[in-house]
Amino acid sequence: MKRLAILLSGRGSNFQAIHRAIAEGRLKAEIGCVISNVPDAPGIEYAKANGLPAYALSSKGVPRADFDLQVKRIIDEAKVDLICLAGYMRLLSPAFIQAYAGKILNIHPSLLPSFPGLHAQKQALDHGVKITGCTVHLVDEGLDTGPILAQAAVPVMEGDTEETLSARVLVEEHRLYSETIGVLLRGL
Ligand code: GAR
Repeated sequence: MKRLAILLSGRGSNFQAIHRAIAEGRLKAEIGCVISNVPDAPGIEYAKANGLPAYALSSKGVPRADFDLQVKRIIDEAKVDLICLAGYMRLLSPAFIQAYAGKILNIHPSLLPSFPGLHAQKQALDHGVKITGCTVHLVDEGLDTGPILAQAAVPVMEGDTEETLSARVLVEEHRLYSETIGVLLRGL
């Protein structure tokens, strides 16, 4: 069985959607480890509550390369095939990215290359686009710049707020991420 590492920093709803897809047999994989760089992130609480190997670290004040080495040790021990960033709000060091070239995935709530970085849905609203969406891509050393694997389009509605638009995009994120992971794992 192919194994996933999940890296998160917050709510963890994309992680939960992956976990659900596995539990319901839609995604053939197992979760080898869940790592949070924010000790009390709701996502890591969910991992613990569900008996998954959960690692709550604190990246506060830790140099990037040192922190990523801690993460790398856990990932290597867990012997995973793919690393899935799921709301992991910390840039990875070049050494980490090179160690797992082509094996790190991210989901981003816009149609990249539009609106990288923070508050992608608000950026889309502020720009006045009529269609936005989400993107699953391989992670390279840039900010949300790696090769695009899959995208889903989501309409922007009259009167949308950041919250209503984010919620509509999130539904597609949850579907797209598990599906894309499945496609990728079948090719490994
Ligand atoms: C998701 O919308 C994800 O696409 C976004 O953070 C949210 C995390 O939610 N990621 C980025 O913006 C990465 N640049 P979640 O913790 O509920 O999965």
